[in-house]
Formats: sequence, structure tokens, C-alpha cells
Amino acid sequence: MARIFIISNRVAIPGASDHPGGLEVVLKATLRTHPCVWLGWSGEVSEKPRTRTVTNRSNSYIVTDLKPEDFDEYYNGFANRVLWPIFHYRLDLAEFSRRDLSGYMRVNEHFADELVKVLEPDDIVWVHDYHLIPLAKALRARGFGNRIGFFLHIPLPPPEILTAMPNHERLIPLLGEYDLVGFQTDGDAANFARYLAKELGAPSHMSLRLGSGDRAMRIGTFPVGIETHPFTRLARRAVKTPFARQVIESLPGTLIIGVDRLDYSKGITLKLEAYERFLAAHPQWHGRITYLQITPKSRSQIKEYSEMETAVSSAAGRINGAFSEASWTPVRYVNRPYSRTTLAGLYAAADVGLVTPMRDGMNLVAKEYVAAQDPENPGVLILSRFAGAADEFRDALLVNPYDPDAVAAAIARAVAMPLSERKARHGELYAALLRSDISHWGDKFLKALEPPDRQGGLRDFIPPAMESKPHPAARQ
Ligand code: G6P
Repeated sequence: MARIFIISNRVAIPGASDHPGGLEVVLKATLRTHPCVWLGWSGEVSEKPRTRTVTNRSNSYIVTDLKPEDFDEYYNGFANRVLWPIFHYRLDLAEFSRRDLSGYMRVNEHFADELVKVLEPDDIVWVHDYHLIPLAKALRARGFGNRIGFFLHIPLPPPEILTAMPNHERLIPLLGEYDLVGFQTDGDAANFARYLAKELGAPSHMSLRLGSGDRAMRIGTFPVGIETHPFTRLARRAVKTPFARQVIESLPGTLIIGVDRLDYSKGITLKLEAYERFLAAHPQWHGRITYLQITPKSRSQIKEYSEMETAVSSAAGRINGAFSEASWTPVRYVNRPYSRTTLAGLYAAADVGLVTPMRDGMNLVAKEYVAAQDPENPGVLILSRFAGAADEFRDALLVNPYDPDAVAAAIARAVAMPLSERKARHGELYAALLRSDISHWGDKFLKALEPPDRQGGLRDFIPPAMESKPHPAARQ
């Protein structure tokens, strides 16, 4: 069996952390069913970088350190100060520098050097996320000729935004060196197709011949999901653990939960503002409701992230200052990560899941919240229409996160929703969860990555027509 090389910035070595990132969850089935080599950054920064290999069952993990200047220019710089904000539609937050771009290219070359030491000609390479767009080009330059796929976990904005990125014409066409480029939603794929049509004159439906030689790139949509049934079972058990019970008992009344990495794309301050407006408009809920916001810190060396930390904690403080009683705190704001098990238990106990990113590739918190609900007495999901998950979750209460009054109204509706409506919505959401269950996701991508003569009729991507029906958020 050909080996699958998974390449991503972060690598989840089994047993190394109790807080698996999203990537480990979505790749679990692939790692279980194929011999894999997973290569990426060790998470360490060192003047004398080392590369080391850990083997676990039939998989190997190769991790390499970054030099301090690589960490600054590649990770903090181009990846997280240019690509992250722009791909999340935040041109206003992007800070471009040529030095960061060359650091980004340099680390991609370094990953390619490490890879070709161990790659065999019939291995298959699967690259993940925005940190590694140029990797296929770097591998092709080193003579690797077999299939290379790319999956973007975050959104891709329309060409009107993407073309404002300095040097986009140098970077984005490098995706043409991949055999398959996968996105979370049809909207992201259509944005890419429009970019290619506008900037490179590519036809609007494709296989495209963009890369070197005779290679045709395909575009596909592969929405990530979760392991639905196992997560449901985990939540059943987790809600009974002593720690979860202790937390739940300390939060009497109706519970709203939000779980977001501390990131401006998650819209946490706007969400707090919406809750504040809900409290102001509905005094009958004072003393009877708590909003638990769990927000692990991330990327704290970047200015926007540290500023956000201050903004979020001051918004939480403002609400508590205005509404608290000696016996009641309306917001409980927690700044640390929790294990998957604890989160599953808290989701199960929460009456409302409040997931309102300003832009998000998919958002697996929304999916885990739904999976954790008791079908006989389910909670209500309030979901931003700008999360990738909104494409599948038409039966959530879909909201515009930029409109705190509308989000406040959705909170009021959620906490008063009759059981029959909660059950009906949850049934539809759970069915949608099963349709995008993650267990076959990797195989679907890898199948689509096979050469066209072995595809058994994979359709070329055709950008979806403009929707003629109104978005469900417009009706709610
Ligand atoms: C998003 C990205 C991942 C990234 C994660 C955490 O989910 O799609 O590629 O690993 O955020 O960000 P960090 O910068 O801590 O790796």
C-alpha cells in the first residue's frame, strides 16, 4: 500500500497532548487505515533546529524545529499576519512585509528538503492549510512526480479581496502545482474558480492545466465533520464525570456555552455585546441564566491577539459589573483550554450553543455541540451564517454576527423555544451531521486525488449557480 504523507504546520503526536487540535480529529480515520507519515513543525523554536522522528504503530511523525527568524517571518508573519486575516476577509488587519513572505517561502523549501529525504516515488502527499501553499511547487522542483493534494481548512475569500493581497499573483497560482485542491464549502471553491478565471483566464469549469508539465488540477468541496456517534457517546459519559458535575452544579439555571480559540475571526466581543443586549431587554432572565465562554489563548505574540485578550476580558467585566448580583454572575469567562471530554460534558449540559464567528472555514464546535445533545431534550444551536457549517446546518438559528440585536433576539428565542421545535430542529441537524461524518472524509479526498483514469467518474468542479432561494437567516 502506498504511504500517505500528511504535511501540516502542526503535528499531533499521539499521547503528546490532551487537547487534540482539529486536524488530529479530522485525520484520525486516515491515520488508522493507511500507513502514514505526518511531517510538520515540532512547536519548538531553536537557534539549532533539529528534526526528529517518532514511530507509533504503522505511522511515523517527523517534526522539525523552526529558527527564531522562521517563527517570526513564516508563522507569526506571513501565515498569521497576512494569510489568516485576508482569508478571513479582514484586509484591515493584514500587515504585509516582503521579509515575511521570503521567510514563508524559505520554511516551505525547508519542509520540502526534509520530505525528499524520506519520500519514495509512489508515495502520495497530502498538504494541509494556508501555511504550506508553495509546498507542491518546491517538491516538483526536487523531482517528485506523484500525486499531491491540498486541503484548505479556512475560508477562501472572493477575488475582490484576494487580489488586494500583495504578491497574490506570485502565491495563489502555485496551487496549480497540486493535482487536487479541496475546500470546506462550495462558496470557497467558487471563489477560487472565480479567482482563476479573472486572474489567469481559466475556464469557469475545469480540469485546469495550470501547473508544470501535463498536470491538470481539480477542485473539490470536502466539508469536514466529526465522528458523530462516538462524540455522542463521549458526551453521555462525560456529563456524569465528577468535574463536569461540579462545573454544571456551579452554574444553576439556563446555560449558554461558547467555546472559541481567542481569535478576532470568532467574533467574541460582538457575541458578548449581543448577550449584554439580551440581558438589558429581558430582565426576567436576570439571576436565571449564565453564559459560559471558554476561550483558550492563541498566537499571543501577535499584536491583534493580545489586544483582543484585553477587549474580551473588559467586555466580560463590563457585563458582570452592570448586571451581577451577590448571588449571580451573568458571564463566566475562562481563558484556558479544557480536555475534549470536559467540553463534551459541558456541551451536553448547555441549553444553548452560541457559535457566532465573523468568518470560519467550518467550525467543529457547532458540530460537537449538536452531537452532544440529548435527542429527547436537546439544546438550541445559534450559528453564524458566515461559518462553513451554516451550509449544512440550515435548522440552526442562523444569525448575522455583525448584528448584536439580531443575535440577542435569537438568544431570547432559543431560551424560550418549545420542546417540540427543539426536537424537530435537532433531528434535522443530527441528520446533517451524519451526512458529513468524518469517518469517510479522508478516503473521499484520497479517492479524488487518484489519477483521473482511476476516478470512476469524479465530476469536474462546476461553480454553483447563484442561489435563487433566500438564505434561511433571512427568514428567521
Ligand atoms: C485553525 C487552522 C489550523 C491551526 C489552528 C490553530 O484551525 O486551520 O491550521 O493549526 O487554527 O492555530 P495555531 O496557529 O495555534 O496552529
